Amino acid sequence: MKYDVKNFTIEEKIKLLSGKNNWETNDLDGKLPSVFLADGPHGLRKTNDEQTKCGTVPATAMPSLAVLSSSWDRELCYLNAQTIADDCIENNVDVLLAPGVNIKRSPLCGRNFEYFSEDPYLTSELASSYVDGLQDRGVGTCVKHYCLNNKEYERIYQSSEVEERALREIYLKSFERIVKKAKPLTIMCSYNKVNGVPMTENKWLLKDVLRDEFGFDGLIMSDWCAVKNPYKSAKATLDLEMPARSLSYPILKEAYDRGLITEEEIDFCVQNLFNLIERLENMKEKRKVSFSIKERHENAVKIASESIVLLKNDGVLPIKSGNVLISGNKLNEPAIGGGGSSNVKPRTKVLSLQEELEKQGNIAKLSTVSASISETWSKQVYVVYDKAYESDSVILLITSKMGEDQDRQSIKLAPMIEDFINQVAKNNKKVTVCLFTGSAVDMSAWIDNVSAVIWCGFAGEGVFSALAQILTGKISPSGKLSESYPLSIDDTPTGLNLGDAFVDNYSEGLMVGYRYYDKYNKNVLFPFGYGLSYANFEYSDLNIEKQTGTDYIVKFKIKNTSDIDAKEISQVYVKDVCSSVIRPEKELKGFSKNLIKAGETVEVSILLDKSSFSYYSVPLKSDYVENGWFEILVGSSSKDIKLVGKIKINLPETEQISTEYVKTVDEIYDNYWGNIVFSMPED
Ligand code: BGC
Repeated sequence: MKYDVKNFTIEEKIKLLSGKNNWETNDLDGKLPSVFLADGPHGLRKTNDEQTKCGTVPATAMPSLAVLSSSWDRELCYLNAQTIADDCIENNVDVLLAPGVNIKRSPLCGRNFEYFSEDPYLTSELASSYVDGLQDRGVGTCVKHYCLNNKEYERIYQSSEVEERALREIYLKSFERIVKKAKPLTIMCSYNKVNGVPMTENKWLLKDVLRDEFGFDGLIMSDWCAVKNPYKSAKATLDLEMPARSLSYPILKEAYDRGLITEEEIDFCVQNLFNLIERLENMKEKRKVSFSIKERHENAVKIASESIVLLKNDGVLPIKSGNVLISGNKLNEPAIGGGGSSNVKPRTKVLSLQEELEKQGNIAKLSTVSASISETWSKQVYVVYDKAYESDSVILLITSKMGEDQDRQSIKLAPMIEDFINQVAKNNKKVTVCLFTGSAVDMSAWIDNVSAVIWCGFAGEGVFSALAQILTGKISPSGKLSESYPLSIDDTPTGLNLGDAFVDNYSEGLMVGYRYYDKYNKNVLFPFGYGLSYANFEYSDLNIEKQTGTDYIVKFKIKNTSDIDAKEISQVYVKDVCSSVIRPEKELKGFSKNLIKAGETVEVSILLDKSSFSYYSVPLKSDYVENGWFEILVGSSSKDIKLVGKIKINLPETEQISTEYVKTVDEIYDNYWGNIVFSMPED
């Protein structure tokens, strides 16, 4: 061990429990290397006053995680992270504060654009690739925000009140799987309380669950300014308070002098910092830049082009010819990123959609008019309506910004923007709306009046190049939604409720996202896993092969029946047919994205294992698979199930809780009385 707690005084060790400044760990005046931390996750956001005077260094602006996750592509997530790694290496950043893996519980959460999905399986699969992509290149990751920080309202004070199965199966599952699969070097502890206890002092969740049960052996740091009492945090095994705070040392020193915290407890945290420093040193050889700036930009374009989701198309797309009008409410400042700590300053100039379309060259004539609608009407809207009437088709770029520290109050677009879309649609029958929004949108006011809708999200500096390729049919869209789009906010399990500033009751339990809409038979605007293509696919030949115990290989075929090459995302859901505990109707347990050439067929193979069938048993304190029938549902979305198979799991009786299977009322009656043993007192 190169750095050993034994070689440091108690005063030095106490200093190491908090940062040196905003972004670095304490180096004890050069006795130790300091670790440089910088935001993510949508590219590098390094705030370095010396280099930039103020602001952040320019870097490749990658798609936001909500967009990236719509690719449903593990390899693209890896490529995305490797691209960001280059910027980290060039800027001497040791650990990127990314990725954010909180579950999207409500579409109102202001940071949904920074998170992957409403589903823990999809989140953990993609986030693990992201972690691998950075760490394989010698850059540490910081998986955040652990845990139950599912909205921004009163994020520092409010307690997320959740029962244990939902906690385990929905909210902790992604952290657990990422820790086990990808071994992130660090984890960031969130601002909020969980069941009344601040996460920064929640020893049960930090030590007993994260470290001892999930096996996390890295460093836990606080979210920025999340620590309330530093000695209570250190006792809960929160290793590092960030950023530096002058009050922390005296509080910790006094707590130590008074015996409120032991040297052993301090050593535990300090050793985790030493381990981080050593791990980073051991990874140094991997820190080699592999993409030129141009290639990084091309990666950003490629990822955006495979993530953008086509939501509606009545045949107007792709646009092959004609006079096309481009308009929108923020034409000159397109939303390529969301607000807050993830906002990247793009290094490569972002060309407009018009410039990118002109590069494609097959649209006869393009004209652009910005409507610049915000709070007030602008006269230009009339010019847009006029132009719309004269044009063969219209592309509307509609931006609705969102950012950290603030939740949305509505999932509708502003009324003036809705009206603008409708007015344009009155004057032109071929309107394509491209949404630059961070999360689900209620489109009820206008969707029936337009011909096509494309969700671009906040897709980074490559968005217009990617969008131009999709609009003109150079590539077929292949993204699918990683969150459900409800018909309205009233249809969501949480509605407009964001908690009362003290408590947010997670009373919907396990039924988050599609689990809720499925369970209560609610229609949605667009289901989880949904996205259109220019191609058509046919699913067939489902075959489920048993390996051992709970391991199965699910095989099926997909044929591209169209004349264009395209990618299709297929999804495997598992349904527990008859269970003795409440379970969702079905849960995502596998997926695959395949390029299928025109007219060709591919065979997809997906592995299911114990975790595909288990639920968390609170009394047993572990995951548990109950014997019985399970359905294997293969779909192109969570609502469009193409193939159904069934299997019966039959684990040895020794692995099962005692159960009685009764078929008739008589049998219930017989069993009931038959099993009661009367013990009579002896005379
Ligand atoms: C955010 C984190 C971020 C940190 C540093 C906090 O406000 O919640 O996600 O990494 O600031 O910028």
